Amino acid sequence: MPEETLTITDNRNNKTYTVPLFKGCIRTMDLRQIKVDADDFGVMGYDPAFMNTASCQSAITYIDGDKGILRYRGYPIEQLAEKCTFLEVAYLILNGELPTESQLKDWVKEVTHHTMVHENVKKVMDGFHHDAHPMGMLMSTIAALATFYPDARKIQDAESRRLQILRLVGKMPTIAAYAYRHSLGLPYVDPDNSLGYAENFMSMLWKMPAEPKYQPNKVLARALDVLFILHADHEQNCSTNAMRAVGSSQADPFATTASAIGALWGPLHGGANEQVLVMLDEIGKMENIPAFIAEVKAGKGKLMGFGHRVYKNYDPRAKVIKRLADEVFDVTGKNPLIELAVELERIALQDDYFGSRKLFPTVDFYSGIIYEAMGMPSEYFTVVFAVPRMSGWLAQWQEMILDTEQKIARPRQVYTGVAIRDYEPIEKRATK
Ligand code: ACO
Repeated sequence: MPEETLTITDNRNNKTYTVPLFKGCIRTMDLRQIKVDADDFGVMGYDPAFMNTASCQSAITYIDGDKGILRYRGYPIEQLAEKCTFLEVAYLILNGELPTESQLKDWVKEVTHHTMVHENVKKVMDGFHHDAHPMGMLMSTIAALATFYPDARKIQDAESRRLQILRLVGKMPTIAAYAYRHSLGLPYVDPDNSLGYAENFMSMLWKMPAEPKYQPNKVLARALDVLFILHADHEQNCSTNAMRAVGSSQADPFATTASAIGALWGPLHGGANEQVLVMLDEIGKMENIPAFIAEVKAGKGKLMGFGHRVYKNYDPRAKVIKRLADEVFDVTGKNPLIELAVELERIALQDDYFGSRKLFPTVDFYSGIIYEAMGMPSEYFTVVFAVPRMSGWLAQWQEMILDTEQKIARPRQVYTGVAIRDYEPIEKRATK
């Protein structure tokens, strides 16, 4: 018997059961032995929205939501954001250790080698309407890659996984940028292998046809790289859970990633950064903030970019972003929305409605203001979030595949429908 246990008394028959505690958890399967008779299925856990259920063991990202701590592989996010490049962090997340100089050189070279897309991928993208949402284009094009790389189905083959990871990390900025170019009717820009990851993304977004070479602004490129670091992983969030759940059926990583992108798109998750700008535009002026807050408190909408399932303290990424915003605005000029956002945050944090519910600004509250200052439209913000999150999704996917305890993710349900009834011919059915 392990050292820590939990004793459960079944008050239906006064039987007691002792179940092991492991890392503060019980295994919910241990409840199944609790039955009133042999026909009883046994006790299950009921936990809609996974409020108190750990779905896996993971060594990638650590969050202490009460203290506002975020670490990738044990390294504090603040240190990584200050000292690393995004590709260095992506390597860390995927491989568990920071790369040596030669490992980093090889990794950057390999990712860069995989940035180009097949010409037919561009044709897939050409098929979208000019006003298609860029997240829809991104999700569908990543799914389409499954048809270009059927070898990706060999998910148990470590070498194949490595190749798909390189393809996905490499091609993500290219496809993301092409979604933007398509909506503007501009020709696609080939990746420029002499540029860094964020710089190359900027080149593919903004290089004009007459320009021989795109010269990225170094401050903006670094800011984008830091934003990529901040968004690289966030443990078992909605899209990562989708990644693991879909991947557990042994679907290939392109189909699996497309489902994660779909989950990220939702306004309660990654789509919140787009909604923050919509909200700020609606508020418009400082004097409208109190009325807006009153509406939120009355349940007529949410303060977008506030609140988190895990953070019950200030999101450490939001602190880094606030500092970054000033550096970006020195180049782009101040986005007037920042003052509105800061004031909105100040008023909300003083209000007991938000205080008592531990609602704080998250990364999304400020990221969109920076993206907008850089010249991106609001419907594009979630795409910029998805680009670096690819490395996190893939690390979590690979961890799931290598975890011998994992099986196809298939929850139970509590059935609440009609128990049984007889078929009725259509002419005898009454409107109910
Ligand atoms: N504005 C106003 N009230 C809120 C907000 C908000 N942004 N977030 C939560 N609340 C309230 C809820 O109404 C609820 O109040 P009640 O107890 O009186 O019913 C209470 O705070 C608890 O909120 P839940 O919705 O139960 O918390 P949950 O963990 O399920 O939701 C979520 C977390 C989805 C992030 C929520 O805070 C939200 O909708 N925020 C706005 C959308 C957003 O910014 N999402 C981005 C999250 S970060 C990311 O995914 C990248």
